[in-house]
Amino acid sequence: MTLVLSVDPAAPDPDVIARAAEALRSGGLVAFPTETVYGLGANALDTRAVARIFAAKGRPAYDPLIVHLARAEDAALVAREVPEVARRLWSRFAPGPLTLILPKHPRVPARVTAGRDTVAVRIPSHPVARALIEAAGVPVAAPSANRFGHVSPTTAAHVLEDLAGVVDVVLDAGPTPVGVESTILDVSREPPVLLRPGGVPREALEAVLGHPVRIATASTPEGEPAPAPGTLPRHYAPRVPLWLFDGPPDWARTMMRETAHVLLAQGEQVAALVPAEDAAALRDLGMQLFPLGPSEDLAHMAARLFEGLRTLESQGATVILARTVPNQGLGLAINDRLRRAATHVLRAAARL
Ligand code: TXA
Ligand code: MG
Repeated sequence: MTLVLSVDPAAPDPDVIARAAEALRSGGLVAFPTETVYGLGANALDTRAVARIFAAKGRPAYDPLIVHLARAEDAALVAREVPEVARRLWSRFAPGPLTLILPKHPRVPARVTAGRDTVAVRIPSHPVARALIEAAGVPVAAPSANRFGHVSPTTAAHVLEDLAGVVDVVLDAGPTPVGVESTILDVSREPPVLLRPGGVPREALEAVLGHPVRIATASTPEGEPAPAPGTLPRHYAPRVPLWLFDGPPDWARTMMRETAHVLLAQGEQVAALVPAEDAAALRDLGMQLFPLGPSEDLAHMAARLFEGLRTLESQGATVILARTVPNQGLGLAINDRLRRAATHVLRAAARL
């Protein structure tokens, strides 16, 4: 049985939070909003509760979880050592959508970190998440509250689509504001490496660090930092094929028109997940459109991205078309999630 409790995102009712916190303390699973996506929380120090997260999601045991704390000063509870660079980053970005990889404290069960010697730590800024962690009085292990391999949830309805009946409590505080997951930075090595682009832009990290930040990629040589283990090539997948047009906007729009034309003629239910300005240019084809907002507002696009994927999928699209955006600010995270969701990637030929 899943209990769904509505809660004000800005001023959560302490009685509602107390009920959810009690469920966490007694080994239950609580789905809660963070500023990025909804998380599926359990007491990080309770091995059995943590095991229930993996079972509920169908998540492989090799994929470690993020531990959520109420404040940066609590990091010593779960990290053996908090390097100076972590303090500097948190003084600017905590609370917020930044996850740091730190040396693991022996107190944290191996199940949480998938046997690794490091632990992922994040201090969420969403008032509901903060109140819940505070009231529970324990570190909260929480992956995104979706079935493994599906799109991350940005509403309580998304959580219930994937996890109704297997999660004990869902705190419903409406849509999450950032819409893509946290940025993951590994500061257990020198220099730090970006394992997953997310809600804190790379440029913002670089401004604090004072040097460029390297991004781990799937093709990094052996012995080099790999991307976060959970960022499998097709990790954020909708359940229908997604064709991604990766190139300049004019090229992408032309290619999308031609592709849509052919697919529609073949009887496909074609849908497009595009910046608002593209939606206008594609409207006459008669396909389903999900405008993400103007491409100059990448934060707005990021906030709508997962909602768009889930909406088109549930409305019966058999093919989704999308295009990349400029690789700056939140564009890096948007493009990363689109590439992982894509079944087909079409790239503009390099100019000679
Ligand atoms: O925004 C977010 O980060 C959301 C909200 C709920 O906080 N959480 C989230 O968790 O996206 P999850 O489990 O869906 O993604 C966490 C990623 C996974 O790819 C996992 O492999 C990686 O973090 N990760 C966790 N611990 C790690 C570690 N010790 N070293 C490297 N990667 C780690
Ligand atoms: Mg996830």
